[in-house]
Amino acid sequence: MYRKIYVIGTFIMDLVVKSDRMPNKGETIVGIDYNVYPGGKGINQAVAAARLGGDVSILGKVGNDEYGKAFLKLLKEENIDHKHVYTSEKLRNGIGFISVDSKGDNRIVIVLGANKEITKENVEYYFKDIKKGDIVMTQLEIDFELVEFIIEKAKSKEAIIILNPAPGRKLKDSILNGIDYLTPNEVELNMLIDKTHNSIDDIEIGAKELYSKGVKNVIVTLGENGACIYNGKGFKHFSGNIVKAIDTTGAGDAFNGSLAYMLSKEKDVFESIQFANKVASIVVTKNGAIPSMPKITEL
Ligand code: RIB
Repeated sequence: MYRKIYVIGTFIMDLVVKSDRMPNKGETIVGIDYNVYPGGKGINQAVAAARLGGDVSILGKVGNDEYGKAFLKLLKEENIDHKHVYTSEKLRNGIGFISVDSKGDNRIVIVLGANKEITKENVEYYFKDIKKGDIVMTQLEIDFELVEFIIEKAKSKEAIIILNPAPGRKLKDSILNGIDYLTPNEVELNMLIDKTHNSIDDIEIGAKELYSKGVKNVIVTLGENGACIYNGKGFKHFSGNIVKAIDTTGAGDAFNGSLAYMLSKEKDVFESIQFANKVASIVVTKNGAIPSMPKITEL
């Protein structure tokens, strides 16, 4: 029996400009290409898990516009349970402005739009379906008080919590305590512990600090350098796969979605991390977040 994956998160339409390099302050440069891709950390993670074969549901809000309609169509095509996806009556869909350079690195600004309207009542209603042992996955793009509420609800239901702390910020100890899987990247790890950690040894110290606050598995994603974990049974580093990156947008989401998928199949966390590393390394070789998420048959 597989666990169901419940995602609570954003729907953002990504407007992506590719250029050789990022412009400097006050500078105009000529870009190479422009595309519009569906994105947002919530739906990216949901699609990543669903394309691999996970049983996925999502709670979120789309805009009262063409982008909102495009997301509703996508949800049907991806076979994601979307009975808890609402359309805003007054707000446009969330938008992301993304610059990608020739190394595939990105800079992102998002405007939340309809995503701001998810309410506690929506969350309460969603949790009626959630049972002990189900997986609840969320991120920090939605209202922070709502994230706290989601975590409290998930703990009270004894669901397995995956918190991807992106965009990064500091979190209260009461929130960290009891989280099953916390998945910061290096920048987000530094924000969580208020320090600057660079080497693998530093990351181990940071991960142990978060573990001491009650996080059961601290998994730090390291981009091309893979990922590492501390869960009280030792610190382990898994190297990344060497690929030529074209666009790194959505790589972290691919990692989280794949991790959720593997945990939903009750796979061991080390095997899950190796699998998630592999999926993330495929995603960076293609443009866009959702268009790059592989199906299980493509691995
Ligand atoms: O993690 C990548 C995502 O972050 C993009 O799709 C963008 O929409 C932002 O939410």
